[in-house]
Amino acid sequence: MFATIILAAGKGTRMKSDVPKVLHPVAGIPMLFHVIKAAQAAGSERTVVVYGHGGELVPQKTAESFDGIAFALQETLNGTAKAVEAAKTAIGTYSGDILILCGDTPLVDAALLANFLEHHRRAKADLSVLSATLNDAGNYGRIVRDWNGKFRSIVEARDASPEEKQIREINSGIYLVKRDVLFQTLSEVQCTNAQQEYYLTDIVAHALYHGYTCQAIDGKAFEKTLGINSRAELAQATQILYRRKAQELMENGVTFVDPSSTYIEATVQVGRDSILYPNVFLEKGTTIGERVTIRQGCTLIGCTIGNDGYLKDGCYLEGAVLGDDVAVGPYAHLRPGSVLENHVKIGNFVEIKKSHIGEGSKASHLSYIGDATLGRDVNIGCGTITCNYDGFGKHRTVLEDGVFVGSDTQLVAPVTVGKGTIIAAGTTVTRDVPEESLVISRVEQKVLKGWAARFREKKLREKDGR
Ligand code: UD1
Ligand code: CA
Repeated sequence: MFATIILAAGKGTRMKSDVPKVLHPVAGIPMLFHVIKAAQAAGSERTVVVYGHGGELVPQKTAESFDGIAFALQETLNGTAKAVEAAKTAIGTYSGDILILCGDTPLVDAALLANFLEHHRRAKADLSVLSATLNDAGNYGRIVRDWNGKFRSIVEARDASPEEKQIREINSGIYLVKRDVLFQTLSEVQCTNAQQEYYLTDIVAHALYHGYTCQAIDGKAFEKTLGINSRAELAQATQILYRRKAQELMENGVTFVDPSSTYIEATVQVGRDSILYPNVFLEKGTTIGERVTIRQGCTLIGCTIGNDGYLKDGCYLEGAVLGDDVAVGPYAHLRPGSVLENHVKIGNFVEIKKSHIGEGSKASHLSYIGDATLGRDVNIGCGTITCNYDGFGKHRTVLEDGVFVGSDTQLVAPVTVGKGTIIAAGTTVTRDVPEESLVISRVEQKVLKGWAARFREKKLREKDGR
């Protein structure tokens, strides 16, 4: 078991943002949340998030999404060592190993942490640092080893000598340290460096001085420890996460026309033999059944889709629940509270909100269905509108089984139409209708024979001045 301290107080200057860096979303959730999830999934007993820049926003947003996280305020942003020290009270009497993570490395996962933990335990180390080897070590801290490869210290890029700059093994910013060793060495860290900051990385040299066992382990997984310091790195991490998810789904039998342009969040499930076209966004725990086709440009947020569905191009679905064999679109809008039973068909430019659509019912074109309950096999004609709002309250429309709604009908709610009724095209339904009726409300048709020809002739004469 272990406790975790996640450093998330820094400014993130290079992001050029008003939002604290760790709250920037990566594939749907703030980067900090990915880190917390990884720590929890790896078995963290106690997790402390150190915050500072951005004030209460970081703890507030985090507490909305996670239970049992402790927070520690770093009042002065004077370095990663001081950030870890700020967590001391929140860590309490916990006496085992402490895992230290940065809130700006959203690609870490439980497998990487579990593996690191195992290496740390097997070596009976007091302090372990997870390293990686890069072709270009950039601004990362360098792992300094002596002539026989023994770990000596970590040197920040800014403080490195020209020789140290050449080192390609870098500090990922992930550490495991015994509690007592951690807080003892932290108290010894000075700020005599290029940035005049208290560097967490300096605990290595102090721990070695006291004779503690220290090791740097190359996790051979640099991609997972990528630190986000700029918008370009943010985009890079986002792409990696989406690619990872697409890979996982393909391994489970989902077809992608182009995995690099399909954007699926980690919380989403897709059943086998489903087919996803490009520019599809699946978000917030959306669940898709088997053999579902989702064509290009569809966005699904928090939806549940049964088996054998077909979503044509350009649909936007939020909080909708669809049964089996449901067809939607192209260009349909299903808003929260839309429930479509099996075999329902929704066509182009149809908007549905907070409505229950019974089995086999159809709305094929250009309609608005809001706050309605439709029975089975209801047919909604083109241009039907539920007039559900009177400027003050919302009212319900009920269409019982087998109702046929002619084109261009307005249903002025609250209103109930009994089963089997036929509503004639162009009708405005304002009162309840008993079952098996015909409802019609139209001005009677008048025909003036030859009127158009006489009208045109008159107009032409006037134009010619005749
Ligand atoms: C740090 C490491 C570097 C390592 C790199 C890996 C130090 C001194 N350097 O550098 O060796 O290669 O991470 O990504 O530790 N933070 C605080 N309070 C502070 C300063 C920072 O909470 O006062 C937090 C930041 O929010 C961030 C993390 O600590 O989540 C790392 O800080 P950052 O400034 O990004 O350090 P790097 O320069 O990337
Ligand atoms: Ca960083």
